Amino acid sequence: MAQLFRPSHNNVAKLMVAIFASAPFILGLAISQLTRQSTGTKVGVPLDQPVPFSHKHHAIELGIDCRFCHTSVETSAVASVPPTQTCMTCHSQIWTNSPLLEPVRESYRTGKPIQWAQVNKVPEFVFFNHSIHIDRGVNCNMCHGAIQKMQITAKGQSLFMSWCLECHREPEKFLYKDKANPQMSLREQVFEFYKKLQRDDEGRDMMDIEQRMLHGDNLPTNKDIAMGEELVKQYKVKKEQLTDCSICHH
Ligand code: HEC
Ligand code: HEC
Ligand code: HEC
Ligand code: HEC
Ligand code: HEC
Repeated sequence: MAQLFRPSHNNVAKLMVAIFASAPFILGLAISQLTRQSTGTKVGVPLDQPVPFSHKHHAIELGIDCRFCHTSVETSAVASVPPTQTCMTCHSQIWTNSPLLEPVRESYRTGKPIQWAQVNKVPEFVFFNHSIHIDRGVNCNMCHGAIQKMQITAKGQSLFMSWCLECHREPEKFLYKDKANPQMSLREQVFEFYKKLQRDDEGRDMMDIEQRMLHGDNLPTNKDIAMGEELVKQYKVKKEQLTDCSICHH
């Protein structure tokens, strides 16, 4: 009986299984290649938006926490863009006559959401999750550039696979703990970074890695590798698996 299934048949069967298993991924890939030009936005180029929303003004000068608007960024895969009601908590009272805010008022009247142009996007076949990165203290600026300077939001990094892998290969080079706030969780440290900017534009009591985050450097590194290695251990970062294809391509 065993003779009927010679090893070569076995290999063909295995190959067929492999092809069928990877079909959705290959299909996704083909579609992404087709749509790449239209969805790909360039780093540093502000997009046309229905309302000229300024992060510099709202998140730094007014001091509104990222989580007030991006409510799910700590807890879920997506950060989410705020609904019109969030804007209207203030703009039903402030600058109620500003023509720039007319699309916001119209959206509130009609219940039709504002159509923001999407700035950051990875293809459908890539899995990304915000909450795990925030939990490990990876700052928004590391992936989105110098948000605090943006009058109109622009993409801060390429978000290419090679770029993700730079950190996934050697997370100890990028993880850090704020020495000025040792009792603070890594998660809270992400938001403390912007509070420092709100308090002091020069960022005087910042760590070296934070100074470079300030300028939106391409993946600023933590020079204190020993500290990074300690954090990898303490947080049980699955370093060996972080470059597995299946982490980002299900
Ligand atoms: C008052 C509300 C508000 C606050 C506070 C706020 N944002 Fe935003 N954010 C928005 C809105 C509205 C958009 C969509 C329009 C745009 O892209 O500018 C947006 C878009 C973004 C995007 C781009 C989304 C995309 O399309 O890819 C990033 C990244 C971002 N915010 C990061 C931050 C960070 C980091 C903070 C805190 C330092 C923050 N935001 C604080 C309202 C806010
Ligand atoms: C916590 C209160 C608050 C929230 C929430 C808020 N804003 Fe504002 N916004 C302000 C204030 C205050 C100003 C004007 C400050 C100034 O320039 O003196 C302003 C100014 C603006 C301006 C410039 C208006 C002009 O004519 O120059 C725009 C556009 C704007 N906001 C859009 C938004 C949008 C879109 C949202 C929701 C995503 C939002 N804001 C949420 C407080 C807020
Ligand atoms: C490790 C990199 C990384 C970090 C850290 C990060 N983001 Fe993102 N962000 C991304 C990627 C990648 C996308 C595109 C996701 C997609 O296409 O599904 C994105 C998309 C977004 C969007 C668009 C809406 C959405 O959920 O897709 C917003 C808003 C946003 N990020 C805000 C934030 C804020 C606020 C923080 C910090 C609290 C933050 N991000 C931290 C990589 C990051
Ligand atoms: C600056 C460092 C850094 C960058 C940049 C980064 N990551 Fe991560 N990523 C991490 C760390 C740290 C973890 C947590 C791993 C752990 O604790 O086991 C993680 C976890 C993940 C996970 C979850 C793995 C799981 O076990 O569920 C996914 C998915 C992921 N990253 C995708 C991406 C993608 C896609 C990009 C690029 C768009 C990216 N990451 C960029 C550091 C980074
Ligand atoms: C940390 C997350 C991450 C891991 C791990 C990862 N990828 Fe990717 N991959 C991405 C992102 C993000 C993109 C989309 C951006 C781009 O094309 O560079 C992508 C795109 C691709 C593409 C399409 C390239 C193109 O030109 O459109 C292929 C093929 C691919 N990955 C294969 C792999 C294989 C094989 C592995 C395992 C050896 C792997 N990936 C591991 C994040 C990851």
